[in-house]
Amino acid sequence: PIPVITIDGPTASGKGTVSHLVAQQLGFHYLDSGALYRLTALSALRKGVALGDEHALAKLARALHCSFAGEDVFLGQENVAAAIRAEEVGNTASKIAALPAVRQALFGLQLDFHKAPGLVADGRDMGSVIFPHAPLKVFLTASVEARAERRYKQLIGKGFPANMDDLLKDLRERDERDTNRKVAPLKPAEGAYVLDTSAMNAQQAVEQVLGWYAG
Ligand code: CDP
Repeated sequence: PIPVITIDGPTASGKGTVSHLVAQQLGFHYLDSGALYRLTALSALRKGVALGDEHALAKLARALHCSFAGEDVFLGQENVAAAIRAEEVGNTASKIAALPAVRQALFGLQLDFHKAPGLVADGRDMGSVIFPHAPLKVFLTASVEARAERRYKQLIGKGFPANMDDLLKDLRERDERDTNRKVAPLKPAEGAYVLDTSAMNAQQAVEQVLGWYAG
């Protein structure tokens, strides 16, 4: 079977960076499932689709024309890599991700990323729902403070405005919503290794994951 490493965890836990680097080291494909929710959110915001209209949102998700090339993320022909990182888009993504029809609509698209020689899948439910048979599952966490600081640096680095108090509030709200939703709530998948990266840099986390993978 084609190997899959699932890396799940809360917002701003460093999953993206770590998953990317692990994929690079192993020469595997990389699935940023959060980007799919963000793309659906961006599309909904632009089209003015009501965030309560589950049916219309699922339709949008099913019809999503997106592609990935390195750091670039395309919605149709447009490179939206920066646009999907805005906090508003992330918050909207977290809201629509609670809708079962939206999750269902993105299911097949995520499986399509599972190709030789292997995949690193980054998200919330990669190990629990999308790739439950993955040979290695990791749950990456960090304290709220460490995560807020990472998000702050990330936003400033991309030229977005950022405020620490707002970010802490946002993170707590997002954690609350992702943890308490009825479908695919955020928690370590069965058999997942839990890695707290509060006091680790990305490279150390990558080494730990690669160590687990090598067995
Ligand atoms: O790291 P951050 O939470 O800001 O963003 P993300 O990983 O890009 O995901 C954006 C939102 O999509 C999250 O808040 C989740 O609610 C949702 N999501 C999900 O429900 N399932 C996934 N597999 C990935 C993301």
